[in-house]
Amino acid sequence: MLFINIKELCGILPAGKSRLQGAEMTEMQTIKNAWLKVQDGKIIDFGSMNSSTDDFHLTTKDTIDASGKFMLPAWCDSHTHLVFAAPREEEFVMKIQGKTYEEIAAAGGGILNSARKLANTSEDALYESAAKRLEEVMSLGTGAIEIKSGYGLSYEAELKMLRVIRRLKENYPLPVKATFLGAHAFPQEFKQNHGGYIDLLINQLLPTIADEGLADYIDAFCEQGYFSIAETERIIDAGAKYGLKAKIHANQFTSSGATEACIKKGALSVDHLEVTDDAVIKSLKGSETMPTLLPSCSLFINIPFADARGMINAGLGVALASDFNPGTTPTGNMNLAVALACIRMKMLPTEAINAATLNGAYAMDLAATHGSITVGKQANLILTKEIPSLAYLPYAFGSNLVENVFINGKKV
Ligand code: NIG
Ligand code: FE
Repeated sequence: MLFINIKELCGILPAGKSRLQGAEMTEMQTIKNAWLKVQDGKIIDFGSMNSSTDDFHLTTKDTIDASGKFMLPAWCDSHTHLVFAAPREEEFVMKIQGKTYEEIAAAGGGILNSARKLANTSEDALYESAAKRLEEVMSLGTGAIEIKSGYGLSYEAELKMLRVIRRLKENYPLPVKATFLGAHAFPQEFKQNHGGYIDLLINQLLPTIADEGLADYIDAFCEQGYFSIAETERIIDAGAKYGLKAKIHANQFTSSGATEACIKKGALSVDHLEVTDDAVIKSLKGSETMPTLLPSCSLFINIPFADARGMINAGLGVALASDFNPGTTPTGNMNLAVALACIRMKMLPTEAINAATLNGAYAMDLAATHGSITVGKQANLILTKEIPSLAYLPYAFGSNLVENVFINGKKV
């Protein structure tokens, strides 16, 4: 397959670049009036239409004329809870009436509400609804995705969720990474027995999950009223014994040292970070951990936006992800996450796009194969509608400007 006359080919990077940090995030190598060739699902070459040495003229019936359109790597959404039994719009209404996230949870809403609904939903029904959501986000430009469990909160239901994620992995062409988030909330019967629930996660669930190869990562909601730092550390250590790296929900509502503790434990990513301070930025410096920011969550539940500007100015890289879930972020639209990062977090369009592509890929261990326009990487690509500039993408935030999405070179 050959794309010709691409108005601008964006997100070009040399092979071997696994993440972008600080000032690198602002830079974006592009080629105006470009061509790009795909073979066997991979990018095999690209160049400028103006150069006489390139072989773009070998047009075939697979040639796509991309005049007026921008091409960029597909979004790498490294944090979602896309498998769930039912939406929670009744809580949305409670929120409008003035209730906080904590009050809604205390009134029987929140994560436990989703867990109750999921317990009574069959694996097939869960799969069907999750597959629809996955197809929707793919059509919006997502070309790699991480999906968490965490609405099961029992032996059977956590496995049910992870098996649904495995089926999505098997049936869809994009990379799907599974994260075990049994430590999302304490179920009612373990409210007074945290140790008992963590024992269930570590001694019963983890061995089965490892046996069946059901998870790539482990996660915990490290937050007041959920999992303490010590409990989170126990879960990270237990996951590590089975080769599961940690991706942790940290500093969403309070700053408690959670992020620093997870970095010390070598977490691949620390996610949310709406409430941070200089100590958080200091501990991220020089670490391998990717701070992953979720602006659609901040918008929806009206909490602070993470300090992306402070992090980038301090020389850090950040990733952007959707956090798609029924409670705090009922959308997996990465175009919106990118736009909000620009509108509310002072990220430049190039920074936001780099954060939602290569740095997202890094936060899923996919940077060697996804997240940039690089010879040899998978051809997971977004072709926009006709737009005047790259900045127009986050600027016109209410329009769907994605015309076509390609996964392994095939149109979605
Ligand atoms: O990432 N913060 C924890 N987990 C989800 C929300 C879960 C829910 O409310 O259902 C999040 O925001
Ligand atoms: Fe989340």
